[in-house]
Amino acid sequence: VKKTDVVRAILADRQHLLPCNTEAEAYASSNIALCKYWGKRNTELNLPMTSSFSISLGNFGSNIRLSVNENVADTACINDQLLDWQSSFGKRLREFLNLFRITPTLGFHADIHTNIPIGAGLASSACGFASLVQALDRLFGWELSLLELSILARLGSGSASRSLWQGFVEWHAGTQADGMDSYAEVCTDVWPDLCIGLLILSDTEKKISSRVAMQRTVATSPFYTAWPETVRHDLSAIKQAVREKDFLLLGKTAESNALSMHATMLSSWPPVLYALPGTVTAMQKIWELRQAGLMVFFTQDAGPNLKLLFLAKDKAHMKTHFPNMPIIQPFINE
Ligand code: PMV
Repeated sequence: VKKTDVVRAILADRQHLLPCNTEAEAYASSNIALCKYWGKRNTELNLPMTSSFSISLGNFGSNIRLSVNENVADTACINDQLLDWQSSFGKRLREFLNLFRITPTLGFHADIHTNIPIGAGLASSACGFASLVQALDRLFGWELSLLELSILARLGSGSASRSLWQGFVEWHAGTQADGMDSYAEVCTDVWPDLCIGLLILSDTEKKISSRVAMQRTVATSPFYTAWPETVRHDLSAIKQAVREKDFLLLGKTAESNALSMHATMLSSWPPVLYALPGTVTAMQKIWELRQAGLMVFFTQDAGPNLKLLFLAKDKAHMKTHFPNMPIIQPFINE
């Protein structure tokens, strides 16, 4: 099964295949997994080995204005800078746009504005592809369901399947070979007191992509066989924590899940280590603060930065320890 087969199957009964608008705009929030996705059962379709669970980042995300014109070359700008189609993101974006180029002479222009550093493990590709599929839907007038858009976003980047909603989202791994049962769904629980701090320790682009690192982990880590069982346990604990507003259970499960994922990567060959010295220093500071009674936990993705989890009652305290850290309350509109 190829990406084009999935796109064809989803768009099979859509009548307006030609763009019904010349321009469309969409916004998607970034998301942070509390129970991670690490490892694919199908690399072409980004089908995961396991389900995963995330929280969206509200105003942190990307906005896209997408337009089409016949007989004009593709162009894309990110934060007003022309994107090089030879760059790694440029290649991925172009490959994705090709899936929707119904006539070979159709040219796309994508104007992307994002307030998160690209490729630094802050889910820039998640909100990028999620906003793109929504803009395509509006441009072509497909009126797809969020479930269908989640499948299309997954073809761009796995974690993008979770970026079409606000709040808690679960991505079901699915079992089908064509991935038609591998999509995300929003969870109705809300947690207004929950805070996420973005502890940005470096905004330089990562040296190894999550795609390459995942494949290497699956292929070489002696510990990867334990990962699906870890996720099964953590996913159910995190869903229980969200239902019961049990912050200790949420924090410790999310932190332990992230550390297990990174330990698995570290045991790959060649090893994969996303932490920088500053990451380790920050982890130790968080453990010390916790020992002193401040309930703060961290999670880490494919980059050196940490995302801190704490409750609104500790916000002032957190600001004194991490003065420049952006804080998001995903369930409060600011
Ligand atoms: O979808 P990708 O290729 O950006 O991979 C995301 C991997 C992690 O961020 C580490 C985990 C996750 O579930 O988001």
